[in-house]
Amino acid sequence: MSVLRAIGLMSGTSLDGVDVALIETDGERRTVLRASGYRPYTEEERALLRRALADGATLSDRTSRPGVLLDAEALITRAHAEAVEAFMTEQGLSRADIDVVGFHGQTVLHRPEAALTVQIGDGEALARRLGIPVVHDLRAADVAAGGQGAPLVPVFHRALAEAAGMELPLAVLNIGGVANVTLIGADGELLAFDTGPGNALLDDLVQKRTGAPYDGGGAIAASGRPDEALLAWLLTHPYFVRRPPKSLDRNWFSHRIVAHLPTADAAATLAAFTARSAARALDFVGARPKRWIVGGGGALNGEILRLLSAQTGAEVVTADSVGWSSAALEAQAFGFLAVRSLKGLAITYPSTTGAPQAMTGGVLARP
Ligand SMILES: Nc1ncnc2c1ncn2[C@@H]1O[C@H](COP(=O)(O)OP(=O)(O)O)[C@@H](O)[C@H]1O
Ligand SMILES: [Mg+2]
Repeated sequence: MSVLRAIGLMSGTSLDGVDVALIETDGERRTVLRASGYRPYTEEERALLRRALADGATLSDRTSRPGVLLDAEALITRAHAEAVEAFMTEQGLSRADIDVVGFHGQTVLHRPEAALTVQIGDGEALARRLGIPVVHDLRAADVAAGGQGAPLVPVFHRALAEAAGMELPLAVLNIGGVANVTLIGADGELLAFDTGPGNALLDDLVQKRTGAPYDGGGAIAASGRPDEALLAWLLTHPYFVRRPPKSLDRNWFSHRIVAHLPTADAAATLAAFTARSAARALDFVGARPKRWIVGGGGALNGEILRLLSAQTGAEVVTADSVGWSSAALEAQAFGFLAVRSLKGLAITYPSTTGAPQAMTGGVLARP
């Protein structure tokens, strides 16, 4: 099958910024990872997006845009357009060089049990502004069919692992605001779901206590002691026992669960919560992977990696260290998914989102 050049775009629940990545792929086995870029949100933009999450929580249909949502949607579209334009200039690319853009948008509500998932961002407007076809709204068809609409990235993780001939079983953990795992079985079978919190609670805590946007390297967490009793209690939450498929909204857990602890211990507790809930993924597999590959911004949190290794007994490595990209992994996935969408290939499966059958998704906007 033909190889296409795709730019993937991701703005995750951390609200840190827009990740941009160029890949060349046939949407199946052949993928070459190219350059990536990043356009951080300004403090003002982030404040608007935080208000959009609050207003999004009240939505009961996916098309209405009450409160600040209309403004936030315009911001998301503009920020992504700027991110692509800057990236293309940097890389010396023109629109004719790019076949398709995969545009995730910004999730402001994710309630699959109510058949509702809302990503703001105007795919039509982005296609017009860039002069490039845009595949967007990649979660909607899955959720409409009764799937969780998440995670969408497993098919990409498997393609990368197979292309590299990696030993299976293998776990790929993406630690964004929320954490999601892809477990690739010995025969390439997929099991994927959100494991629990990623960085979001720790970000919120550190921001509140110190003003910094995140716990750099996990240093604060590493300097504290987790509250074991609280951790044990947190891990009794029914979500961790529930069989996959399953997915989480960012608002399911709050950093306020550690409000009573000194900063270092609070951070240590949240880092341990992320690592231990991720390790609980092993409750749902037969053979334990010997290796976990970690991507997303959380790959830079050494304390979470250390705790994950202690919990799983596995070798825990970063996506960067295996020749992938921790920062760009999700954006690359959306480029890959856009190509699969264009080709009518499946992007979700019963074992990844609980979709009733393997199904494609995404909406194509032509410039
Ligand atoms: N140097 C670092 N040390 C620890 N954590 C980091 C570092 N840099 C980024 N992060 C974490 O990564 C997050 C962004 O990760 P990302 O994969 O973009 O998440 P999302 O998909 O939710 O946007 C930040 O909010 C922060 O928690
Ligand atoms: Mg991000």
